[in-house]
Amino acid sequence: MGARPALAARMRHILCLDDFDQAARSHLPLPVYSYIAGAAETNQSFHANREAFRQYEFVPRVLVDITGRDTGITLFGQRFEAPFGIAPMGLAALSAYRGDIVLAAAARRENIPFVMSGSSLIRLEDVVKVNPDAWFQAYLPGDDSGMLALLERARQAGYKTLVITLDTPAAANRENNVRAGFSIPVRPGVRLAWQGMTHPRWLFGTFLRTLVQHGMPHFENSYATRGAPILSPNVERNLGDRGHLNWHHLRMIRAHWSGPLVVKGVLDARDARRAADEGANGVIVSNHGGRQLDGAVAPLRVLQRIVEACPDIPVMLDSGVRRGSDVLKALALGAKFVFVGRPFSFAAAVAGEAGVLHAIDLLKAEVSRNMALLGVTAVDQLDPDCLISHATFSQPEYRP
Ligand code: GLV
Repeated sequence: MGARPALAARMRHILCLDDFDQAARSHLPLPVYSYIAGAAETNQSFHANREAFRQYEFVPRVLVDITGRDTGITLFGQRFEAPFGIAPMGLAALSAYRGDIVLAAAARRENIPFVMSGSSLIRLEDVVKVNPDAWFQAYLPGDDSGMLALLERARQAGYKTLVITLDTPAAANRENNVRAGFSIPVRPGVRLAWQGMTHPRWLFGTFLRTLVQHGMPHFENSYATRGAPILSPNVERNLGDRGHLNWHHLRMIRAHWSGPLVVKGVLDARDARRAADEGANGVIVSNHGGRQLDGAVAPLRVLQRIVEACPDIPVMLDSGVRRGSDVLKALALGAKFVFVGRPFSFAAAVAGEAGVLHAIDLLKAEVSRNMALLGVTAVDQLDPDCLISHATFSQPEYRP
């Protein structure tokens, strides 16, 4: 690992994660920006995710010596420097040059978890070389032998922690992508060419640089073998239906994966409990950042029920985390850890590894500062007594 890149002048005005969104909006062609920023149908869940955090207020304690506080946490036997990590994001190399590698490298440097997406355009083998602690998030191929072959490939590459995303039994209705001109397969045309020409930093720094140095991007990690190029008419099947997957498949994966197994995209406490009973070592409560079922409940709202149902495994959360205060609220409600997606993707697009490092630093500083203001010195001191809810919703008890 070389010297840490200096903070570029163009990032000095980036003071919080949402500022990366603004910067990425002008840096990226509209279809690419919209793919990352957008959600499904009416964006109800996307907005509900943020709203859920606003329903809680802190009750700080005073006269606590907070000078020696520690933002670190131990997860699956490994210590990380912050209670947040980088969520898996597909197509990261379309918005940022070598996007997955940039994210993986920054996570390694800052010692936080990075989850490599199965719908990415860089070979999983190349990413784990940069970050041997990266987790691999698989989108399972339909057939059992294909599934096991993909797991075997990930194992051989050196991945230890496997994440299975369960909230994609059908492709989501992302109207915003259609409206913005984004599609998989990518369809070249006058509109896309114009977008490229009017975003020259992205065109030369990401897209053409990728084409020249690495060739046409392919889906690399959907199967044990290379998938289709992003321009291919057949490429849709890589992201498409997994309608027949059921608990049998989770059992099979458990039987074949010896490292930590995490299920992601669970919102019902009964599913979380069942996953734990089938041998999952962790669960990520998530509505996929609002990108799958529009109207799906915000993860924060069901978090306590799931924690209550699964006291024996770490319950983690993603979807809508943008501030250190959000991280602390989720932890106070019982999450062991949280993941953040879009802002890190925007940071990689705008400024590569230096951008992601800056994003991690900003969020970590917010976590640490807010711990001080709250009067806690370690993240495991956070509990529901740190919060008052003026939520109009209730968190019904878990009933198996
Ligand atoms: C991929 O996981 C996506 O949400 O687009």
